[in-house]
Amino acid sequence: MAVIENAKVTVVGAGAVGSATAYALMIRGSAREVVLYDIDEKRASAEALDLAHGAMFTGASEVTGTSNIERTAASHVIVVTAGAAQRPGQTRLELVETNARIMASLIPSLVEASPRAIVIIVSNPCDVLATLAVEQTGADPARMFASGCVLDTSRLRRAIAIRAQVDPRSVHAHIIGEHGDSEFPLWSSARIGPLPVEDWGEQFTPEELEAIATEVRTAAYTIIEGKGATNYAIGLSSTRIVEAVLRDERAILPVSTVLSGTLGVDGVALSLPSIVGSAGAVPLDRIRLSDAEQELLARSAATLGETAAAVRA
Ligand code: LAC
Repeated sequence: MAVIENAKVTVVGAGAVGSATAYALMIRGSAREVVLYDIDEKRASAEALDLAHGAMFTGASEVTGTSNIERTAASHVIVVTAGAAQRPGQTRLELVETNARIMASLIPSLVEASPRAIVIIVSNPCDVLATLAVEQTGADPARMFASGCVLDTSRLRRAIAIRAQVDPRSVHAHIIGEHGDSEFPLWSSARIGPLPVEDWGEQFTPEELEAIATEVRTAAYTIIEGKGATNYAIGLSSTRIVEAVLRDERAILPVSTVLSGTLGVDGVALSLPSIVGSAGAVPLDRIRLSDAEQELLARSAATLGETAAAVRA
C-alpha cells in the first residue's frame, strides 16, 4: 500500500490528549479529515469547532466532532486516547481496570466501522491495553499497537541534546520496554551523530546517564503534578506515528507491539524500535542488548504480563 491521499483519521476521546492530537494533526496537515469521537457529543463538537475555526491558518484539513461511531467509518488510522488519566502520584498501571473496561466496549465497534484501519492505542497503560485489545479482537499485532515509548524517546533525545548542545534530531537513542516505570534507555546503542554517547564528552558520566534515565522516567509525574495532565508532546508523538503510517515512511519508532518471542518476550506488548509504515508496525528482531538491558527488558515484560493477567482474572 502506498502513501494515502485524502486520509481520514479518527481520534477517540476529546479530552486533553485527544484534542492535542487533533490539533497536531491539523496544524501539521497530516490528514485531510480528522474526526474527534467522544461519548460526550457536546464536548467533541465544541473541541472540533474550536479547532476547525483555525482553517484560515492551516489549510484544507476538515475537523469534525461526533458521538456517533458511524461517522468514524472507513478511517485509515484510529488513535485511541479515551479513558481515565493519571492523577498526581498515580502510576499508569493503576488505570488498568477502568481503561481496560472502556477499551473492551469501544475497540470492537471502532474496528467494525473501520475494518482496514491501523489502530494506535495511546490511553494508559498503553502496553497492557494494546495486549488486551489484540487478544480481544484477534487483530494482527502489526495493525493494532500502542504509542509506547515514542514520547519517552523524544524526552530522552532532548535531555541528551541539551547536554551535548546539538539538535535533538541528531541524537539516535531509544527508550524501550514499558511506557511507564520499568522503561529504560538503550544506552548500548545510543549515539550522538556517529559517536557513542559516552565518547561525546566528559559530561556523560555513568551518574549523569542515570540522572537522564530518571528524568525521562519521571517526566510525566512532574508535569501531572504541575498541570494535571500531559498532552502536547503526546499529541505530537501520536501524530508522528500517524504520519509514518499514512505516508508509508517505514520510519523506525519505538512503538509498543505484542511480541511473539522477540528478545524472549512473548504475548505482551512493549516498545522496541519498530519499522512503521502503511502495513503498521514491525519490531526489529535483531537488536543487540547488553546483559543488563536484557535483564531490564525481561523485568519490564514480567510487570506488564502480570498486569494483563490480573485484568484477565
Ligand atoms: C506521558 C503520558 C502520555 O508519558 O503517559 O506523558
